[in-house]
Amino acid sequence: MWILVLHISALLLWCAALLYLPVLMVGVASGRVELQRTHSKVGALERLVFTHLATPAALVAIISGTVVFVFNRTIDGWLMAKLTLVVGLVVCHTLLGLLVLRATTNRGDPWGEHPDGGRPVTMRCVLLAAVQALLIMAILWTVLAKPDVVPVP
Ligand code: HEM
Repeated sequence: MWILVLHISALLLWCAALLYLPVLMVGVASGRVELQRTHSKVGALERLVFTHLATPAALVAIISGTVVFVFNRTIDGWLMAKLTLVVGLVVCHTLLGLLVLRATTNRGDPWGEHPDGGRPVTMRCVLLAAVQALLIMAILWTVLAKPDVVPVP
Protein backbone atom coordinates (compact mmCIF):
# COMPACT_ATOMS: atom_id res chain seq x y z
CA MET A 1 0.00 0.00 0.00
CA TRP A 2 2.79 2.45 0.91
CA ILE A 3 4.54 1.82 -2.40
CA LEU A 4 1.28 2.70 -4.19
CA VAL A 5 1.02 5.90 -2.12
CA LEU A 6 4.64 6.72 -3.05
CA HIS A 7 3.81 5.95 -6.70
CA ILE A 8 0.81 8.28 -6.73
CA SER A 9 2.66 11.10 -4.87
CA ALA A 10 5.64 10.91 -7.25
CA LEU A 11 3.50 10.83 -10.39
CA LEU A 12 1.48 13.85 -9.18
CA LEU A 13 4.75 15.80 -8.67
CA TRP A 14 6.07 14.64 -12.05
CA CYS A 15 2.87 15.62 -13.89
CA ALA A 16 2.74 19.00 -12.13
CA ALA A 17 6.35 19.76 -13.14
CA LEU A 18 5.67 18.63 -16.75
CA LEU A 19 2.79 21.13 -16.97
CA TYR A 20 4.44 23.95 -14.96
CA LEU A 21 7.74 24.11 -16.92
CA PRO A 22 6.29 24.92 -20.39
CA VAL A 23 4.12 27.65 -18.84
CA LEU A 24 7.15 29.08 -17.02
CA MET A 25 9.26 29.07 -20.20
CA VAL A 26 6.50 30.75 -22.24
CA GLY A 27 6.22 33.39 -19.51
CA VAL A 28 9.98 34.05 -19.60
CA ALA A 29 10.21 33.98 -23.41
CA SER A 30 7.33 36.49 -23.71
CA GLY A 31 8.97 38.74 -21.11
CA ARG A 32 5.94 38.54 -18.81
CA VAL A 33 7.93 36.57 -16.23
CA GLU A 34 11.20 37.96 -14.94
CA LEU A 35 13.28 35.41 -13.12
CA GLN A 36 15.76 36.15 -10.38
CA ARG A 37 18.96 34.29 -11.09
CA THR A 38 19.05 31.34 -8.68
CA HIS A 39 22.19 31.05 -6.63
CA SER A 40 22.55 27.32 -7.22
CA LYS A 41 25.14 26.21 -9.72
CA VAL A 42 22.28 24.96 -11.91
CA GLY A 43 21.62 28.63 -12.77
CA ALA A 44 18.17 29.09 -14.30
CA LEU A 45 15.03 28.18 -12.33
CA GLU A 46 13.80 26.06 -15.26
CA ARG A 47 16.88 23.86 -15.03
CA LEU A 48 16.51 23.61 -11.26
CA VAL A 49 12.88 22.44 -11.56
CA PHE A 50 13.74 20.00 -14.36
CA THR A 51 16.83 18.43 -12.77
CA HIS A 52 15.91 18.59 -9.06
CA LEU A 53 12.14 18.00 -9.21
CA ALA A 54 10.70 16.66 -12.49
CA THR A 55 13.40 14.07 -13.18
CA PRO A 56 13.72 12.62 -9.63
CA ALA A 57 9.88 12.49 -9.40
CA ALA A 58 9.74 10.64 -12.75
CA LEU A 59 12.31 8.10 -11.56
CA VAL A 60 10.50 7.50 -8.25
CA ALA A 61 7.12 7.18 -10.08
CA ILE A 62 8.55 4.65 -12.56
CA ILE A 63 10.50 2.60 -9.98
CA SER A 64 7.60 2.52 -7.46
CA GLY A 65 5.13 1.65 -10.26
CA THR A 66 7.39 -1.21 -11.33
CA VAL A 67 7.57 -2.47 -7.72
CA VAL A 68 3.74 -2.38 -7.48
CA PHE A 69 3.63 -4.21 -10.82
CA VAL A 70 6.01 -6.91 -9.52
CA PHE A 71 3.99 -7.30 -6.29
CA ASN A 72 0.61 -7.30 -8.06
CA ARG A 73 1.70 -9.38 -11.03
CA THR A 74 -0.95 -7.42 -12.96
CA ILE A 75 -0.41 -8.10 -16.68
CA ASP A 76 -3.85 -6.97 -17.82
CA GLY A 77 -4.31 -5.30 -21.18
CA TRP A 78 -5.10 -1.93 -19.55
CA LEU A 79 -1.70 -1.91 -17.79
CA MET A 80 0.09 -2.63 -21.09
CA ALA A 81 -1.88 0.22 -22.67
CA LYS A 82 -0.98 2.44 -19.68
CA LEU A 83 2.73 1.62 -19.92
CA THR A 84 2.69 2.39 -23.66
CA LEU A 85 1.27 5.84 -22.85
CA VAL A 86 3.88 6.24 -20.08
CA VAL A 87 6.62 5.65 -22.68
CA GLY A 88 5.10 8.61 -24.57
CA LEU A 89 5.30 10.71 -21.38
CA VAL A 90 8.97 9.77 -20.91
CA VAL A 91 9.68 10.88 -24.51
CA CYS A 92 7.91 14.20 -23.74
CA HIS A 93 10.00 14.53 -20.55
CA THR A 94 13.17 14.16 -22.63
CA LEU A 95 11.98 16.71 -25.21
CA LEU A 96 11.12 19.09 -22.37
CA GLY A 97 14.70 18.70 -21.07
CA LEU A 98 16.04 19.70 -24.48
CA LEU A 99 13.70 22.71 -24.55
CA VAL A 100 14.84 23.78 -21.07
CA LEU A 101 18.46 23.48 -22.22
CA ARG A 102 17.70 25.56 -25.33
CA ALA A 103 15.69 28.17 -23.44
CA THR A 104 18.30 28.65 -20.69
CA THR A 105 21.54 28.49 -22.69
CA ASN A 106 23.16 31.87 -23.41
CA ARG A 107 20.97 33.51 -20.77
CA GLY A 108 23.96 35.59 -19.54
CA ASP A 109 21.92 37.95 -17.44
CA PRO A 110 18.46 37.32 -16.03
CA TRP A 111 16.83 39.52 -18.64
CA GLY A 112 19.05 38.50 -21.56
CA GLU A 113 17.41 38.42 -24.97
CA HIS A 114 16.70 34.93 -26.32
CA PRO A 115 18.94 34.42 -29.38
CA ASP A 116 15.89 33.70 -31.55
CA GLY A 117 13.48 36.00 -29.79
CA GLY A 118 11.94 33.12 -27.86
CA ARG A 119 9.25 32.44 -30.50
CA PRO A 120 10.26 28.87 -31.47
CA VAL A 121 10.63 27.98 -27.78
CA THR A 122 7.13 29.35 -27.12
CA MET A 123 5.50 27.40 -29.96
CA ARG A 124 7.22 24.19 -28.92
CA CYS A 125 6.31 24.71 -25.25
CA VAL A 126 2.62 25.15 -26.09
CA LEU A 127 2.62 22.06 -28.31
CA LEU A 128 4.50 19.94 -25.76
CA ALA A 129 2.25 21.08 -22.90
CA ALA A 130 -0.84 20.08 -24.93
CA VAL A 131 0.56 16.62 -25.78
CA GLN A 132 1.65 16.05 -22.17
CA ALA A 133 -1.77 17.09 -20.79
CA LEU A 134 -3.52 14.67 -23.19
CA LEU A 135 -1.13 11.84 -22.28
CA ILE A 136 -1.55 12.42 -18.53
CA MET A 137 -5.36 12.39 -18.87
CA ALA A 138 -5.21 9.22 -21.02
CA ILE A 139 -2.93 7.46 -18.47
CA LEU A 140 -5.14 8.44 -15.52
CA TRP A 141 -8.26 7.31 -17.36
CA THR A 142 -6.64 4.00 -18.33
CA VAL A 143 -5.39 3.18 -14.82
CA LEU A 144 -8.60 4.26 -13.05
CA ALA A 145 -11.19 2.92 -15.54
CA LYS A 146 -9.13 -0.23 -16.29
CA PRO A 147 -10.87 -0.74 -19.67
CA ASP A 148 -10.94 -4.23 -21.20
CA VAL A 149 -8.02 -3.93 -23.56
CA VAL A 150 -7.31 -7.17 -25.40
CA PRO A 151 -3.50 -7.39 -25.67
CA VAL A 152 -2.40 -7.79 -29.30
CA PRO A 153 -1.27 -11.49 -29.60
C1 HEM B 1 6.71 2.70 -15.73
C2 HEM B 1 5.86 3.42 -15.11
C3 HEM B 1 4.66 2.90 -14.33
C4 HEM B 1 4.37 1.63 -13.88
C5 HEM B 1 5.17 0.34 -14.05
C6 HEM B 1 3.08 1.71 -13.19
C7 HEM B 1 2.44 0.62 -12.58
C8 HEM B 1 1.31 0.74 -11.79
C9 HEM B 1 0.65 -0.38 -11.15
C10 HEM B 1 1.07 -1.85 -11.27
C11 HEM B 1 -0.39 0.13 -10.42
C12 HEM B 1 -1.42 -0.64 -9.57
C13 HEM B 1 -2.65 -0.79 -10.44
C14 HEM B 1 -3.73 -1.57 -9.79
O1 HEM B 1 -3.55 -2.78 -9.67
O2 HEM B 1 -4.73 -0.95 -9.46
C15 HEM B 1 -0.39 1.56 -10.63
C16 HEM B 1 -1.32 2.41 -10.06
C17 HEM B 1 -1.48 3.70 -10.48
N1 HEM B 1 -0.71 4.37 -11.43
FE1 HEM B 1 0.99 3.72 -12.28
N2 HEM B 1 2.62 3.01 -13.23
C18 HEM B 1 3.56 3.76 -13.92
C19 HEM B 1 3.49 5.11 -14.21
C20 HEM B 1 2.37 5.88 -13.93
C21 HEM B 1 2.18 7.24 -14.40
C22 HEM B 1 3.18 8.00 -15.25
C23 HEM B 1 0.95 7.64 -13.95
C24 HEM B 1 0.21 8.95 -14.15
C25 HEM B 1 0.50 9.89 -14.98
C26 HEM B 1 0.40 6.54 -13.16
C27 HEM B 1 -0.81 6.58 -12.50
C28 HEM B 1 -1.26 5.61 -11.62
C29 HEM B 1 -2.43 5.76 -10.73
C30 HEM B 1 -3.32 7.00 -10.63
C31 HEM B 1 -2.54 4.56 -10.00
C32 HEM B 1 -3.59 4.20 -8.92
C33 HEM B 1 -4.72 3.46 -9.60
C34 HEM B 1 -5.77 3.00 -8.62
O3 HEM B 1 -5.86 3.56 -7.55
O4 HEM B 1 -6.50 2.09 -8.98
N3 HEM B 1 1.28 5.49 -13.17
N4 HEM B 1 0.66 1.91 -11.46
